Amino acid sequence: MSFTEALHRFRVMLWLALPPLLIAAAVGGYWISRRALRPVDRITDAAESISIRSLADRLDVPNTADELQRLSETLNRMLARLNSSVQRMSQFTADASHELRAPVSLIRTTAELAVHGGRTNGEYHEDMVQILAEAERTSRLIDSLLILARADAGEDGLQRELTDVSVSLRQALDQGRKLAVEKNIELTASLDKQPVVVLGDGDALRRLFLILIDNSVKYNPAGGRVQVALSTSNGQALCSVSDSGLGISKEDLEHVFDRFWRADKVRSRGMGGAGLGLSTARWIVQRHSGTIDVTSELG
Ligand SMILES: Nc1ncnc2c1ncn2[C@@H]1O[C@H](COP(=O)(O)OP(=O)(O)OP(=O)(O)O)[C@@H](O)[C@H]1O
Ligand SMILES: [Mg+2]
Repeated sequence: MSFTEALHRFRVMLWLALPPLLIAAAVGGYWISRRALRPVDRITDAAESISIRSLADRLDVPNTADELQRLSETLNRMLARLNSSVQRMSQFTADASHELRAPVSLIRTTAELAVHGGRTNGEYHEDMVQILAEAERTSRLIDSLLILARADAGEDGLQRELTDVSVSLRQALDQGRKLAVEKNIELTASLDKQPVVVLGDGDALRRLFLILIDNSVKYNPAGGRVQVALSTSNGQALCSVSDSGLGISKEDLEHVFDRFWRADKVRSRGMGGAGLGLSTARWIVQRHSGTIDVTSELG
């Protein structure tokens, strides 16, 4: 066999071998990629089956120390975050409905009594006073709910401008004084003459101080004392509100900033509180890059 003949034969063999080789490569490649992507399929199926009702479910994490393991772990962490947000939201809705039900049903029964007639003028007047008080309570509650719902939605609606904290505090003190006088509580304030300027929202700050003063008056027996002070330290505004009231037990201290939390449901309900004041206060403080703390003991 001459050299050219051998070369020719070799070329023919190559041409004949090419199609089966190509087919083998394609099939092999497909098989390998299917195998490699099977865990991804499993993750996809599992993710597909998770809905808002089954957010507590988790994806299986393959123990492969590769991207797939990282992906499943990341997805699981995301699910955990979503789960806790959804739970917080449903809890919030449930608590809010519960709080709204009481005043609305009181308004309703009082109005029904009045509509059925046979009441004296004095009794009608009393009914109206009760309805008015409950309606005011409801609208205060709705205001607080609205603020917190907006806060959750990420739109705080707060101004960012240079504002004098002492002006906001004085406004809150004026409002607080009316509450204090009604309960014969002595409200004293120690404020410097010079302005305490911060970047923030004056009206929100007034609301913040009023929440604290309102609590100090509300959870204080008649004849008690409330002291408010404003100072600056290290370029920060420092406001303190202290009272000679009921105090808060050590176990309760960690809950006071929780939404809808009240130390004594029955007592505070009678005083018109929904347990939203301090959670709103904390939110306002956080939006001003500040911190809020409480120290107390029972009595
Ligand atoms: N100064 C205080 N002294 C004693 N207990 C307090 C004081 N401030 C708050 N608390 C307790 O913490 C709870 C939560 O306070 P918060 O202001 O959040 O709600 P509230 O006063 O019950 O209702 P709201 O402020 O929504 O009208 C109160 O119910 C009360 O038990
Ligand atoms: Mg309050």
